[in-house]
Amino acid sequence: MTARLPVALAGLGRMGRIHAANLARGSAVRLAAVHDADPEVARSVGEELDVPWVATFDDLIDAAPAVAISTPTGTHAELIVAAAEAGKHVFCEKPISLDRATAVAAVEAAEKAGVVLQVGFHRRFDPDWVVAAERIHAGELGEVTLFRTTLRDMNPPNPAFLAHSGGFFADVTVHDLDVARWLVGEVVEVTAHGAASDPAFAEIGDIDTAVVVLRFANGALGVIDNSRSARYGYECSTEVMGTLATARVDGAHRHNYEWRTPGWASRDLLSNFGERHRLAYIAELEAFAHSVGSGEPAKVDGRAALAAFDLAAAAERSYRTGLPVTVDGRNGLS
Ligand SMILES: NC(=O)c1ccc[n+]([C@@H]2O[C@H](COP(=O)([O-])OP(=O)(O)OC[C@H]3O[C@@H](n4cnc5c(N)ncnc54)[C@H](O)[C@@H]3O)[C@@H](O)[C@H]2O)c1
Repeated sequence: MTARLPVALAGLGRMGRIHAANLARGSAVRLAAVHDADPEVARSVGEELDVPWVATFDDLIDAAPAVAISTPTGTHAELIVAAAEAGKHVFCEKPISLDRATAVAAVEAAEKAGVVLQVGFHRRFDPDWVVAAERIHAGELGEVTLFRTTLRDMNPPNPAFLAHSGGFFADVTVHDLDVARWLVGEVVEVTAHGAASDPAFAEIGDIDTAVVVLRFANGALGVIDNSRSARYGYECSTEVMGTLATARVDGAHRHNYEWRTPGWASRDLLSNFGERHRLAYIAELEAFAHSVGSGEPAKVDGRAALAAFDLAAAAERSYRTGLPVTVDGRNGLS
């Protein structure tokens, strides 16, 4: 049996608690220590999972050869740089930063230090999407003609999170933009429309509903629809049409159970990303450990995260200007 990679985790909110549980129970990873800006939160999670909790990020870095970061987005880059400079491998939630130059500096710091930097685009590890990707990349679909993906939260996150989320496109749509690049290829044009169905979003200059149209370098077209508050449940689905076949990953259900009445059938729905992508959140951490152990590059590294961020920035610009935005697909640090 190979040793489990000790990983020290910073940020114990919505996402951090999912990572904490998965690290604690992992087969290729183990939770070495936890830290949160709120020491009470760190203490309670540490006690619950029976791991040390530390008061500072510097102490956390000392606790393991690898760190996982699920603090608010605006704090990621500084923590990545500190960890990389200490020679620690880094798993970090998306996006790396809300500022491109800051994100580039963090990616460069990881590359210079020679450590693994993996970013939390979990759908790349979700078994449903992985099977579709393998078959698409093997050419079984023929030429891809149409990409369609949907990401809708059941309820919006709390206002404190929204105030620092970086806005809808960088926080939500960025997941779909990464999936678009992964499944279909480079995007050359982005057109975005957005709306605030809930006035609370308009008040903070944000939106809660968006449609994004993509043109890919290979000629395929794409459409993304996103919502912060679908209300009926959490939905994440993707479809890729090709000249030979169509791949479709649909929304999932909690149970294989349906209640039927005359002329109607009803089924339960999932309510959040933790339920829908349970296996993906486990698999991304196991893949991170594999990269650290094998020296193989992370499946979704800093450069891939930057490319998705650039597309989110293009969507934001298109939404603000009402015009399509051309993207150079450079996928690099410059
Ligand atoms: N991949 C996904 O599916 C997914 C889902 C949700 C959130 N996220 C990402 O995860 C990150 C966290 O989001 P969240 O919803 O868990 O936020 P959250 O507000 O629920 O939790 C953030 C936690 O970090 C702590 N914190 C704040 N500043 C810190 C610092 N400097 N050092 C240590 N701890 C600090 C807070 O006290 C809080 O406990 C964001 O970057 C977000 O984009 C990813």
